[in-house]
Amino acid sequence: MVKVSVVGASGYVGGELLRILSRHPDVELASLTSRQYAGEYVHKVHPNLKGVLNARFTGEDALTAASKADVVFLALPHKASVSVVPEIIKLGVKIVDMSADFRLKDPEQYKIWYGYEHPYPELLKKFVYGLPELHRDELRSASYVAVPGCMAASAIISSAPLYRYMSDQIVVDAKIGSSGAGGKPSLSTHYSERYGVIRPYKPAGHRHAAEIEQELSRLAGKGVVVGMSAHAVNIVRGILTTTHIFVGSEVTLQDLWKAYREFYRDEPFVRFMMDRTGLYRYPDPKVVVGSNFADVGFAYDSHSRRIVALGAIDNLMKGAAGTAVQSMNLMLGLDEKKGLDFPAIHPV
Ligand SMILES: NC(=O)c1ccc[n+]([C@@H]2O[C@H](COP(=O)([O-])OP(=O)(O)OC[C@H]3O[C@@H](n4cnc5c(N)ncnc54)[C@H](OP(=O)(O)O)[C@@H]3O)[C@@H](O)[C@H]2O)c1
Repeated sequence: MVKVSVVGASGYVGGELLRILSRHPDVELASLTSRQYAGEYVHKVHPNLKGVLNARFTGEDALTAASKADVVFLALPHKASVSVVPEIIKLGVKIVDMSADFRLKDPEQYKIWYGYEHPYPELLKKFVYGLPELHRDELRSASYVAVPGCMAASAIISSAPLYRYMSDQIVVDAKIGSSGAGGKPSLSTHYSERYGVIRPYKPAGHRHAAEIEQELSRLAGKGVVVGMSAHAVNIVRGILTTTHIFVGSEVTLQDLWKAYREFYRDEPFVRFMMDRTGLYRYPDPKVVVGSNFADVGFAYDSHSRRIVALGAIDNLMKGAAGTAVQSMNLMLGLDEKKGLDFPAIHPV
């Protein structure tokens, strides 16, 4: 059995990690930390786990929790992970970090997008960007994983097969549910203010653009500039990304089918959501809720010579905990579907 600790286990991502890991056949949970709920039963915060996981939160710090484990998940806010990672590395424990602290390879990008000088730039190259669809082989030999941002994961997975068609500038339009903001309440997540919104909360300059640029530029073999607009919409879970790629020359739907089929031949969690008839003809976050699936689809607009790449994921699953466990499985040489092989619920 692999011993696993979750630091920040009381958060939304922490809760999803516990839901998956408590049923993972090869995992034994070691320490589940929360400062606010130390000593409380896990189901006090994650009521869906009542009768599923009979454990209490510990008030242990990250280092103590990590010292009891073979793998530690850091489900902490940005900048909290970076302060504990160097000490955990000294323990020889594998790390899966959910924050943005180790996602970007170029330390300069942290100044531009996160407004701080990365304190351990030499560690950035030790982390593998935790997207199995793009980095499977690296993950197999990784010790440290930086799990992608949720909207970045959706945009990258859905548009990666188009790397040959990438223009120098692309546009990512993202829509996200309220759980994307985490469990800590604020005025913008207060029910009266959040209910019913279609709110452009970051029409320009969203930080996930940096990750999307990093990954798509690498695939395209040239610099790709990402203009990203993020909107809060009236769902609890889910992301839809619509990526616009202006190709400038004629492309056929057959070309696009070929590109997607070749790229995602054997992906266990990527599904094509493309149908001429029926209600769910394109990716829709409603049908991935609770699962690790990423639904992808595309359209071609010959009028504007634009490819439209569509992606739908559950932000807490394929956008966070699901991809994290999939990456852990690869890191440990396990079947990557272990603990994740269940469908979404419908209707929600
Ligand atoms: N929500 C999403 O859809 C999503 C998707 C992908 C990635 N992420 C990333 O995953 C991480 C967790 O997100 P979340 O949505 O789960 O946030 P959250 O609900 O606010 O949970 C944060 C957790 O971290 C703990 N914590 C906060 N500050 C801490 C500190 N200084 N030291 C130790 N523990 C601390 C909190 O518990 P206590 O206060 O009880 O200790 C809580 O358990 C973030 O980096 C986020 O950007 C989130």
